[in-house]
Amino acid sequence: MSSAPQVIAMDGPAASGKSSVAREVAAKLGWIYVNTGNMYRAATWAVVESGTNPEDEAAVLAVVQGTDFQCTVEGGRSVIRVNGADVELQLNSESVNRGVSYVAKIPQVREILVAMQRDVGHTHPSVMEGRDIGTVVFPDALVKFYIDASEEVRAKRRGLQGHADSVGERDRIDSTRKVAPLTAAADAVVVDSSEMTLAQVVARIMELLHERGVTA
Ligand code: DC
Repeated sequence: MSSAPQVIAMDGPAASGKSSVAREVAAKLGWIYVNTGNMYRAATWAVVESGTNPEDEAAVLAVVQGTDFQCTVEGGRSVIRVNGADVELQLNSESVNRGVSYVAKIPQVREILVAMQRDVGHTHPSVMEGRDIGTVVFPDALVKFYIDASEEVRAKRRGLQGHADSVGERDRIDSTRKVAPLTAAADAVVVDSSEMTLAQVVARIMELLHERGVTA
């Protein structure tokens, strides 16, 4: 019997469409949808809220270490709480968008959040989306996908979400940081979603999962 964790890794750059894909695939399988970007965003929200500059590494670490982050599973998805409060509606603000890549490149911050991610993945069959799920968090994931899209298409998709500006800079920092940079795992299936609809990407992934024996 395989001892691989019941985790499907879904990595890729900002606005590649991976969140929507991961959410739908999780719903089809009846697995938990885990958005790890929201964990880095929650840490950044706590930093911004405390008046700390996200680029001040020592101060950021002090805030994160002094904050209680809790990950629970509710309604088929992971929810991140900061000092007991559900802050999800505040995680896509412009100040969080601007600061999150600085917070996410601090190794000790990643250690704290990766431990939570492993905890969820080991206790719930999960479709987990992020940047380093297949490379670092669950190198032994059942199946790994890397969802990509051309820069043009991603800029357009992000524009539709109202955040065109910081995405290029965020991708640059996420891809060049020393610890757990954004990159496709050697054994990931790369899906370029540039010319595909959401439904087509989901159908393709379900097909690939089926071929690998992963079914609802
Ligand atoms: O998926 P997202 O755009 O909401 O993620 C926000 C930021 O969090 C992203 O710019 C980089 C960071 N992140 C990360 O470093 N590792 C992950 N597994 C997920 C997100």
